Amino acid sequence: MVSGWVTARALATIANVGPGFDVFCLAIRGPSDAVSIREADEDSLRVEGVEASSISSKFTENTAGIVLNALRRATGIETPLEVRVNKGLPAGRGLGSSAASCAAASLAFLKAYPESSHLGPAGVLQAAVEGEAAVAGRHYDNLAGALLGGFVSIASSDPLVLAREPVSPRIRFAVVVPELVLRTADMRRVLPEMVPLKDAVSNVGKAATLALALSRGDAALAGRCLEDRFAEPKRASFLTGYAEARKAALDAGATGFAISGSGSTVFATAASDKDAEQSANAMRDAFLARGVNANAFTTTVSNSIPLRSLLGNRGPRFSLVTE
Ligand code: HSE
Repeated sequence: MVSGWVTARALATIANVGPGFDVFCLAIRGPSDAVSIREADEDSLRVEGVEASSISSKFTENTAGIVLNALRRATGIETPLEVRVNKGLPAGRGLGSSAASCAAASLAFLKAYPESSHLGPAGVLQAAVEGEAAVAGRHYDNLAGALLGGFVSIASSDPLVLAREPVSPRIRFAVVVPELVLRTADMRRVLPEMVPLKDAVSNVGKAATLALALSRGDAALAGRCLEDRFAEPKRASFLTGYAEARKAALDAGATGFAISGSGSTVFATAASDKDAEQSANAMRDAFLARGVNANAFTTTVSNSIPLRSLLGNRGPRFSLVTE
């Protein structure tokens, strides 16, 4: 163990990215969670920061604590840990708050115990998903985005198969976070069991084309591909101001619009800083007009790779295939 406190951060993520339900994720520059750990006589955990009181500070229930337990089991490192979780991301807003805590806990553990790097990227993701599973369902999208950065596409969860690609900074993102909590677990219960074939074809076509548009930096094409016919039609009805925010973004010059993860955050794509700023302000005003306070910001994708130390000399375009 490296002595003293060891801290790691993980960014907000936009999961689904329109048609890629449970499959696509983008890491964005901006707010983040931090997890600090140090060796102690017994396990303890404290949560600080944004809406900290809404997060469990019980070691065995907190996502960071669950992940640290999974990593200790996987590595045989049994040392008790004092943990501080500093929340920069509010929960229940579709910004990957739980995944950011899981990812930051994993990164802190790897930093503190370099000998655990033998787990490799797949082993770390598989331990980290235990925290996500406890609160939001066993899906890798936000987590893979937070640990790998850039754009992640997940072909399969079991076995884990994914690809990671950088995204051109030419694509700007306008992000609006309403003061409206939509718990992922609840928003997964409203999903349809079946989708019509024509909707499946629409999602597959838009998802495949979106992946190309993101890597080429084509904001117009990316925006046209943001439509989702699986989850978004059901979830939109729980999101006061959704239709108004969508119209406001597109009228203000955005190329496309979608819910971030399971909401309540929404985002729009744009081809310039000006269009992104106008879209962000227009979306925020649309929520305000419906009586919902909201924060707006503009950003680009973060292409840095938090798990880089485990990836050897693989470049920014890599894939992970487990048996
Ligand atoms: N893919 C997940 C969902 C992301 O939409 O339920 C949750 O942030």
